[in-house]
Amino acid sequence: MKSAAATVTTKDETKSTKKIVDYDEHGRAIYEDGTTSADEVPAEAVETAPPPPGDEDCDGCWEENFQSHVDTKPLGPSSVGMDLNFHGAAYVYGIPEHATQMALKPTGGSRTGDWAEPYRLYTLDVFEYELDVPMALYGDIPLMIGHDAKKTVGAFWHNPSELFVDVGESGGSQIDTHWISESGIVDLMLLSGPTALDLFEQWGTLTGTTALPPLFSIAYHQCRWNYNDEADALAVHGKFEELDFPYDVLWLDIEHTDGKRYFTWDKHNFPEPKKMIDTIAATGRKMVTIVDPHIKIDSGYHVHKEASAKGYYIKNKDGNDFDGWCWPGSSSYLDYTTEKVRDWWASQFDYDKYIGSTDALYTWNDMNEPSVFNGPEVSMQKDCKNLDGVEHREWHNLYGMYQHRATAEGLIKRNADQNDRPFVLSRSFYAGSQKWGAIWTGDNKADWSHLAISTPMLLTIGMTGLPFSGADVGGFFGNPDSELLIRWYQAGSLQPFFRAHAHHDAKRREPWVMGEPTLTHLRRAVLQRYQLLPFYYTLYHTASLVAYPVIRPLWAHYPADTETFALDDQFLAGEDLLVKPVTAPGTTSVSVYLPGGKSQQWYDVSTTE
Ligand code: GLC
Repeated sequence: MKSAAATVTTKDETKSTKKIVDYDEHGRAIYEDGTTSADEVPAEAVETAPPPPGDEDCDGCWEENFQSHVDTKPLGPSSVGMDLNFHGAAYVYGIPEHATQMALKPTGGSRTGDWAEPYRLYTLDVFEYELDVPMALYGDIPLMIGHDAKKTVGAFWHNPSELFVDVGESGGSQIDTHWISESGIVDLMLLSGPTALDLFEQWGTLTGTTALPPLFSIAYHQCRWNYNDEADALAVHGKFEELDFPYDVLWLDIEHTDGKRYFTWDKHNFPEPKKMIDTIAATGRKMVTIVDPHIKIDSGYHVHKEASAKGYYIKNKDGNDFDGWCWPGSSSYLDYTTEKVRDWWASQFDYDKYIGSTDALYTWNDMNEPSVFNGPEVSMQKDCKNLDGVEHREWHNLYGMYQHRATAEGLIKRNADQNDRPFVLSRSFYAGSQKWGAIWTGDNKADWSHLAISTPMLLTIGMTGLPFSGADVGGFFGNPDSELLIRWYQAGSLQPFFRAHAHHDAKRREPWVMGEPTLTHLRRAVLQRYQLLPFYYTLYHTASLVAYPVIRPLWAHYPADTETFALDDQFLAGEDLLVKPVTAPGTTSVSVYLPGGKSQQWYDVSTTE
């Protein structure tokens, strides 16, 4: 037993001298009264709790540098890990979010390049993300699914700190995987299947099923960064009307606000928001505005004033309100991990608080990884703390889900007497986000490869519990030509969430902009979605009851057909609609794999033959 004396500050902030009697496996001091250095205010403890004897120079144990950033680790080094072997599995799947194929690739070992690295799960805002790499993206669901002809099983590693997963080779008697999280505890849940549908249902029981989306939200959405003013928004709306081109929701991105102060409107460009929303709502349509989690530090901004007065912001390591850079400039970030903050946030959506909003206005939560432009990896320092004094490193991957949740609760609460279903789109997510709404795959590119990757990405996200997901139709960055745009609408019209979106530097590309014959092709694709709305709505209803994904890999329904195990360029919508998007230029025909053998009859939906 080692012994030393240290001055510590406990949560009630009384300074005391306690005797260290031992260290736990994470190197945390254990004091004579049974408490550990983890029970203390870490910023103080870092100055005072010494590293275990002999470990004083342990490089990176108590502090690490990343570019110009310093990550202090007052609680010392920690990690938890485990090996999970999927016996008999032909492939393993899951652990989104990565821009790569559905069947997880082997990592590490003697590999070189990107795949020498493990899959990383750490919710991040990644600029122009690459494809076919194991790097982290906006969301995290630490559920892995193993499948072979006889069974489907799952393992849920419930730990929202930074996670690395190595995947071994397939083709042997088992697939070995190795999981290591930076922090937290081992909280492992195994799902026994034995069929894929059983597994989906078990997962729904564990983490919740999707809330049944309102019908309009599974129809076609028109978005762009930005529709510049009320006249612009109404002109776009008017053109849809004029052309009798179906759409349900018009979106406004960050520029609609007064200087990126969410819940406000730019007075010059959006002087009469209610009138604008009412005009659009009079035709049965809806609007969405963006409401991000960073709050502009401005004493004249009511949201900031109240949040700071109430002490609702995340704290930096020194105990002051965290100050990071995002769209509005210097911003603080609400602590959505705390219930009273979520309740307060929810109340910001009340009609008498969010002036100009109406019951036809819904919400988009972006940048909630959280994105901090001047932070390490464009996120928040891990030694920041929530209101309970728990370090950001412990709950990083939960942040987006909690904002999503608080927003959805706000939209429910504002109409408490009407039983209105909310619609909220979030970029970041965690296991369970399905209860709060939809997600999308972030800032993709107007490129054929990004169209192609949307299918495996959405299949993976769907099989890990989030049925309501989509990719920006047309690609966020860049300018699709007519052919790519048409193919993207065709694919998007059959994916679960169907929204066209574009960066402000991209050329206008509303359905009519390229003229004919593009317009006719786009109309055909969108009409197809509208024809299938009752079918998709029914799939969402099933998802809300038993958690079956809206789009599914073929092996979910043809479990013994080994041809389907790695097939991720086609999918089943429900059980009966087989979809193969065209994802290459100049394509005039594609071959489609029809599962079920000779006994299974398939019909072409366009000819019914
Ligand atoms: C982020 C979002 C994108 C949005 C932009 C401005 O890049 O991913 O969809 O248009 O921010 O709000």
